[in-house]
Amino acid sequence: MDLKMQVDKNKLPQHVAVIMDGNGRWAKKRGFARVFGHKNGVNAVRDTVEAAAEIGIKNLTLYAFSTENWNRPKAEVDTLMNLLINSLKKELPTLQKNKIKLATIGNLSKLPAKAKAKLQEVIELTQHNTHLNLTLALNYGAREELVNATKSISKKIVNNELNVEEIDENIINSHLYTFNLPDVDFLIRTSGEKRISNFLLWQIAYAELYFTDVLWPDFSKDHFYQAILNYQSRERRFGKTSEQIENSK
Ligand code: FPP
Repeated sequence: MDLKMQVDKNKLPQHVAVIMDGNGRWAKKRGFARVFGHKNGVNAVRDTVEAAAEIGIKNLTLYAFSTENWNRPKAEVDTLMNLLINSLKKELPTLQKNKIKLATIGNLSKLPAKAKAKLQEVIELTQHNTHLNLTLALNYGAREELVNATKSISKKIVNNELNVEEIDENIINSHLYTFNLPDVDFLIRTSGEKRISNFLLWQIAYAELYFTDVLWPDFSKDHFYQAILNYQSRERRFGKTSEQIENSK
């Protein structure tokens, strides 16, 4: 049976995060330069966003560029930035048609001016869309996010806007880039690597993790649905026992 049809719409993860990995290896396997993998990775981004929208996922966050990715050769970084700009240009009508709202997490100040301008434009134009929140992590690092949150909270304490005793999980949450997103329920990483790589460390505290050997450019809608079905087959206990979960149903 069609995989999409098997997805239980009442048991969807509220927030899916994806570490898109394996573009370079995909290209190398075919004897091409790494950038060719990134170009093909864009198709997988489109398929994944569409697949998520089609089944009614509300929040999708994609790791597009980490704080460490600046260490790659300049030509590769430039290609990634140009792919981002061109994809935003090309996909705007699709975002509007499917009522997808674009947002970013990470420190955008280091991005090229053209990329920042395009992002800002698309974020503004899609701000009233409500079907799916698509968040791109760009120049994002979870440790940097936590350092920034700590600084903002400390400043509020110094300025007497906040008491130390008032600091709780909600306060920390509200100082993260993801302050308006629910916790991540499901984290997908492609390409067989089993690492978190400084992505959403706070937000994945209770997330189900899913690792697949599929390289990112090959990741299709069916791979996404397969992953969601796998999530739906798991029992999430949040520290409770199976019996407690059963009895509360
Ligand atoms: C990881 O593959 C992928 C990236 C660092 C970037 C992801 C970017 C895209 C899919 C294209 C542009 C994005 C958008 C949102 C339009 P890798 O290069 O680390 O692969 P490897 O581990 O095989 O070398």
